[in-house]
Amino acid sequence: MSAPRGQFSSNFGFLMAAAGSAVGLGNIWGFPTNVASNGGAAFVVVYLLLAFMLAYPVLMAELTIGRHARRNMVQALRGISTGPVSRATGTVAGLAGIAVASMILSFYAIVAGWMVAHLADPFAELVGASEAAQWLTGDSASRNFTFTAIFSGLTMLIIASGVEKGIERWSTLLMPALIILLLLLIAYVLTQPGAMSGLEAYLIPDFSKLSPLLLLSAMGQAFFSLSLGVGTMLIYGSYLSKQESLPRLGALVTLIDVGIAFTAGLLILPAMYVAQEAGTQIFAESGELIGGPGLILQVLPALFDTMGTSGLFVAIAFFALMVIASLTSSISMLEVPVAFSIESLGLKRKPATLLMGAIIFGISSLIIFNFETLFGLVVSISTEYGQPLLGVVLCIFAGWILRRDQLLKELKEGHEDIEQTLFWKVWPWYVRIFCPVLILLTFVQSIPVLWA
Ligand code: PFF
Repeated sequence: MSAPRGQFSSNFGFLMAAAGSAVGLGNIWGFPTNVASNGGAAFVVVYLLLAFMLAYPVLMAELTIGRHARRNMVQALRGISTGPVSRATGTVAGLAGIAVASMILSFYAIVAGWMVAHLADPFAELVGASEAAQWLTGDSASRNFTFTAIFSGLTMLIIASGVEKGIERWSTLLMPALIILLLLLIAYVLTQPGAMSGLEAYLIPDFSKLSPLLLLSAMGQAFFSLSLGVGTMLIYGSYLSKQESLPRLGALVTLIDVGIAFTAGLLILPAMYVAQEAGTQIFAESGELIGGPGLILQVLPALFDTMGTSGLFVAIAFFALMVIASLTSSISMLEVPVAFSIESLGLKRKPATLLMGAIIFGISSLIIFNFETLFGLVVSISTEYGQPLLGVVLCIFAGWILRRDQLLKELKEGHEDIEQTLFWKVWPWYVRIFCPVLILLTFVQSIPVLWA
């Protein structure tokens, strides 16, 4: 227990790790899909507003609590508690955070496994192994089990190496690669016939689509995309040195996350219309654009198929992008239970990684073999309810349990003149009252529609 805690070696290392956690399947897949099915740019506008007005303040709550307490979510929330009620709440919320982070990883690893399989597929095609290729792109439980295991193993290998040598090193390597791949793919797709209709669908808003459910989806998307509520950002904040300005770093992470989601839209929607031009069906029977797995696993591969051999290389680039994005996110999820096992249960890092990785892989396997019943349920409990509700608890701990002078002291570290900033004038109140109310209202306003 008294072993020195890990720490990021630099500002840049933290930024890549935190942005790596934020940028993932949620940006490259979830965001464009949500845009496609929610009125194009109308969703983009609502999302941008929520990201800066709601998600950023909650991110700041997590980073501040984490760096102040320098502990995992359970110990951090207990540590700042002021009485038995807040201590009990902190323990329950901390454990719930660890459970939800593990649930998210359990389904995320399955989806990321699909990406690894699709990355392997063009190689199988190049060497003419057509049976293997069919298995790789099919939908069998054996394929899912194998590739979830491979992806989970990779995530565990990185986490076993620790904060600096694992998380930081791999994030600083993979994030620039991700950005380069994304830009190369956009440049390619935008020169193909049909791309401009995709840009129109993406960028011209249809405000008649605004609805209570759109607000709820946009909030869920923002929480998921910024990895909020489950203690990921809290634990990364706890590894950050006191020389950095938290509001500035938090703002950069938000900007990178939103920027990459927006940029991914410039790839995915045009790619869909290019696929249509090439003869692929891109609208579902309901008249909506196809989203979800159909989009990434059928529409886009159909497009790559029409491109001949060059399509194989485009497919490799695209699925490499997806795997990289997933990996920098999955390591941040696994770090949550691992840090808890190290600090609260007294395990060493390697056994802790093995134990938690194995438990989560067990849950993934359960989902794989009961896919129809469990997959949607786990996604919905963890991301639609778990993340925003835990976000409320974190706002309450940052806004009501931490005293104003404690907040000020923490935020002053690395930002001497914080008292003169607009951030300090607004945020403490904002996170105290406005954020919890806004999150709860977004839930309440959607209830009549959800249960109608
Ligand atoms: N932010 C990741 C994405 O957009 O794909 C998902 C995620 C990572 C959610 C880490 C939660 C988390 F703790």
